Amino acid sequence: MAYKIAIIVGSLRKDSLNRKVARSICGLRGDNLDCSMIEIGDLPLYNQDYDANPPEQYVRFRQQIAEADGVLFVSPEYNRGIPGVLKNAIDVGSRPYGQSAFDKKPAAIVTVSPGSIGGFGANHQIRQAAVFLNMPVMAQPEAYLGHVTDDSFDESGCLKDGPLKDLVTNLAHSFHDWVVMIHRSRQLLAEDAAHAGKQKAHA
Ligand SMILES: Cc1cc2nc3c(=O)[nH]c(=O)nc-3n(C[C@H](O)[C@H](O)[C@H](O)COP(=O)(O)O)c2cc1C
Repeated sequence: MAYKIAIIVGSLRKDSLNRKVARSICGLRGDNLDCSMIEIGDLPLYNQDYDANPPEQYVRFRQQIAEADGVLFVSPEYNRGIPGVLKNAIDVGSRPYGQSAFDKKPAAIVTVSPGSIGGFGANHQIRQAAVFLNMPVMAQPEAYLGHVTDDSFDESGCLKDGPLKDLVTNLAHSFHDWVVMIHRSRQLLAEDAAHAGKQKAHA
């Protein structure tokens, strides 16, 4: 079974390095992860007044997240933090209160930068929000992808062979396993609970 993964890219740039890395991750686990890029550039700035009557873009975005089995965040770092467009999307998906589309979705976080720190600051701000939103976030491998440039990709936009591709391949496999583990564990717990319920009924 292929798990549905919603990929949220924190850059709106046409030639975004992050978007290219996100596409590469999809390509590497295309057989087991059914990836969709979820667009966030059209989401109006979050306003709690919209909770009662949300704009159609909010409805579409929340629905796409709700339908996913897992969420992959791939983002640049802006001024050592989360780009505003991504934070806005997280806020939109998390509301109305008690109806977060992100609740319980397994997640992984990848940050990509031409700089040497690899978006460490943004990565941990995204992690902080995801943990708060009750998303089981993959711990390892961490993915602060530094020194990424246009030269890291071939003409078709795929990662060239080398250490970066190896790291991203490892990450794609680990995320697949993480999503499977979370969903299977829940299924087994539900089966155990149903079994225990039947035994109690027959006692
Ligand atoms: C407003 C702004 C702030 C930035 N701040 C950081 C930063 O804090 N750390 C970093 O590594 N790169 C920073 N950068 C450089 C980005 O990493 C670089 O532009 C990267 O290519 C953006 O990702 P993208 O290619 O996916 O659009 C910043 C870029 C912009 C436009």
